[in-house]
Amino acid sequence: MWALGAWVLLGAVCAGSAQLQFNAIKSVEKTICNKTVILPCIVTNLAQKGIRAMFVKWKLEKNEFFSFDGSTEETHRNKNFSSAVLESVQNLSLGSASLSISKTQAVPGNYSCEVTESNREGETVIELIYRVEPWFPQVESIFIILFLVCAILFYWIQLGVTVSKGTTFQENIGLILAGIIISVVAVVGFILLVLDGFEPKNQAGLGLIVLPAVILVPLQYFLLKIVFKNNLLLFEILVVVLESLGYLIAVIGFALCITACPPKNGAVVIAGLAIMALMAVVGLIYMIALGSCKKDQPPKKAVEEPLNDAKGVMLE
Ligand SMILES: *[C@@H]1O[C@H](CO)[C@@H](O)[C@H](O)[C@H]1NC(C)=O
Ligand SMILES: *[C@@H]1O[C@H](CO)[C@@H](O)[C@H](O)[C@H]1NC(C)=O
Ligand SMILES: *[C@@H]1O[C@H](CO)[C@@H](O)[C@H](O)[C@H]1NC(C)=O
Ligand SMILES: *[C@@H]1O[C@H](CO)[C@@H](O)[C@H](O)[C@H]1NC(C)=O
Repeated sequence: MWALGAWVLLGAVCAGSAQLQFNAIKSVEKTICNKTVILPCIVTNLAQKGIRAMFVKWKLEKNEFFSFDGSTEETHRNKNFSSAVLESVQNLSLGSASLSISKTQAVPGNYSCEVTESNREGETVIELIYRVEPWFPQVESIFIILFLVCAILFYWIQLGVTVSKGTTFQENIGLILAGIIISVVAVVGFILLVLDGFEPKNQAGLGLIVLPAVILVPLQYFLLKIVFKNNLLLFEILVVVLESLGYLIAVIGFALCITACPPKNGAVVIAGLAIMALMAVVGLIYMIALGSCKKDQPPKKAVEEPLNDAKGVMLE
């Protein structure tokens, strides 16, 4: 019995003296939001606790790209890994040989960390996995798209109602052109936003969704003005003011999100766009309900334009 115990003890001592042991981390993940990547490499059984006796090598698929010599405190690195540094030189004496690399240089793959302390050494392999995903969580993107689509859609319906009540040719052209511009820009924004990654193109997507939506505010004002023949009452003004407020909230959300990864304040953008969509539908209902009461005024000369297709289906 004692022989077995001694053998186990001896084995442990021998293994300990010859071999450095590591915290077994098999893989780490970098996401689109990591600016730097930390490859962990923690030795658990250092004996001397001094960096002078230590030497660290990092390899990617067997090619050495980084080395740190504790006796001279000199670092050598490959051009492709110019950003690589030990996470903390002080903590090397505590066993941490973890490496910090910039996001762009940290290519996915199997990295090995080789640590030497005097005559003892050891190696551990860590796989770096790259998880690519869209910047905004899917459910937030869906709400952002949904509310802006609603706001734009209700604009088009309001435009149809307005045209059916008689508008001039110039008004039609201007209003339709503005509608086309905001629709096209929004679609481009949606596509860029939902692409994988957190890059200028995704940020531009959010910009194209939120910022041009400002057009909807004056458009709402013009439509109400046309339908109500310039006699805007408090309620109509309120609709326009609340729609501006919605826009303002969306822009605040945009400012909070644009450099953030993950975008923690997506809900602010959603809230702003939701208010804009709500005001657009309130404006539409109001226009249909009350606009028709004011029909007693002499109608403007109807201008027939091929673009007025929507006219037929709208309330007369
Ligand atoms: C990436 O960032 C996350 C969150 O900040 C962090 O938990 C993770 O360890 C980082 N990944 C790597 C490989 O450094
Ligand atoms: C750096 O990376 C490029 C391509 O990614 C590769 O062709 C080149 O051999 C690498 N340079 C070194 C010194 O490893
Ligand atoms: C160094 O180690 C200490 C103790 O483990 C820890 O609190 C500290 O965050 C580490 N420093 C760095 C830069 O990793
Ligand atoms: C890393 O090694 C593991 C296990 O050996 C292997 O399954 C994986 O494909 C490797 N990854 C890369 C990027 O080579």
